[in-house]
Amino acid sequence: MDARSVATKILTQVIRHRHSLSDCLDVSSLQDERERALAQALCYGVLRWLPRLEAILKRLLQKSLKPKDSDIYVLLLIGLYQHIYLRIPPHAATAATVNVTRQLKKKWATGLVNAILRTFQRQQESLLKSVDSDDSVRLAHPPWLIKYFQQNWASQWEMIASANNAHPPFTLRVNARSMSRDDYFEHLLKANIAATATPYTKYGITLEHAIDVQQLPGFTQGWISVQDGAAQLAAQLLDIPAGARVLDACAAPGGKTAHLLECYEISYLLALDNQSARVQKLEDTLHRLNLSADIRCADATQVETWWDGQVFDRILLDVPCSGSGVIRRHPDIKYLRKNSDLATLTAQQSHLLQTLWPLLAPEGKLLYVTCSVFAEENNLQIQSFIAKHADAYETVLVAEWGHTQPSGRQILSGENNMDGFYYACLSKNKIL
Ligand SMILES: C[S@@+](CC[C@H](N)C(=O)[O-])C[C@H]1O[C@@H](n2cnc3c(N)ncnc32)[C@H](O)[C@@H]1O
Repeated sequence: MDARSVATKILTQVIRHRHSLSDCLDVSSLQDERERALAQALCYGVLRWLPRLEAILKRLLQKSLKPKDSDIYVLLLIGLYQHIYLRIPPHAATAATVNVTRQLKKKWATGLVNAILRTFQRQQESLLKSVDSDDSVRLAHPPWLIKYFQQNWASQWEMIASANNAHPPFTLRVNARSMSRDDYFEHLLKANIAATATPYTKYGITLEHAIDVQQLPGFTQGWISVQDGAAQLAAQLLDIPAGARVLDACAAPGGKTAHLLECYEISYLLALDNQSARVQKLEDTLHRLNLSADIRCADATQVETWWDGQVFDRILLDVPCSGSGVIRRHPDIKYLRKNSDLATLTAQQSHLLQTLWPLLAPEGKLLYVTCSVFAEENNLQIQSFIAKHADAYETVLVAEWGHTQPSGRQILSGENNMDGFYYACLSKNKIL
């Protein structure tokens, strides 16, 4: 097995069987570090550019392949991806891709893969020009998603779609309980790892190049975690007073829970999530960072199953959402998410908000968070909540990052090098 055959197997699971990339991305069978990196690059790259690659392949294939040969279909996409996007000499890319047909025990496909890739090489310019006349192909998003971006962000939609296809930065959060950001810079310097401070955050560091986390100084000891700059804003916005009781209602895998515990002296933090596999990840996250919280696998909307009746001074509500702001990190969202999911998600968000609101102390604050750029999940959700709750006031977030919305603040994907996030802060008393 080499990088291309491993990538073929993984991508067949995602493209044909609709599994999520993070569930199937296992490249550990490859011994060589460069092969592992290539397999990962092929998986992410093909998913980033799938509609464009598929549009080209459709023009090159004379007849559709049978479902049992979906691995060959995926292999052809991998071949095209290398020709268009990687700096591998075309003849080497073709030869290596053709070779995979033998590893897949489909020698019959050798001629087909060879012919398609050679034809593409000859006709590359005209083929690309012709498929790119369609915006959703050129920008490699399903048409419904492009339409949504256009409806929500009339002048920025193309910037958002392009940012979704870019490589995301590799950003760390220094554990304030271990050391300062400056101290960690010293460790990076000694390890010869180039990095800069992440803007708008106190603890963020952006590395010049992605790296295996195990090679980072102090990862196992819990000195740092991987977290985008936009996600790091939650802790500072929640502004927790010493001794507070805090609820993190949708907590797994625990990036923000950990950040709260690193920054504040919290007397009690209850972290809930309703998916047991994700709760396990939350436990692992806190264990590595030597932090603790009351962690429970529970549905936050079933209050009677977990609440002790005491109100919370702070509630972090990082709701399940479309993920439309983090497509650059999870390109499979573009295909796994469906237009129809939005109605279900907005109903869940609204239910979570309404159920948890009574649990907030009169002087408390609730921070509502999504990694979405859609108004239905963000500004419109909060506006509708405020309209229905006479005791709900918004604390306007004044910041150098993001866009002011009628309610809350929106960071668009890729802006200030951050993921697309939305924040709104609610309280029961008007805070001027
Ligand atoms: C955006 S993620 C949270 C990310 C997390 N706050 C972090 O920073 O790592 C949303 C989480 O909500 C959980 N979830 C969805 N519905 C829930 C519910 N009714 N009760 C509790 N958790 C829920 C999902 O399992 C998912 O882990």
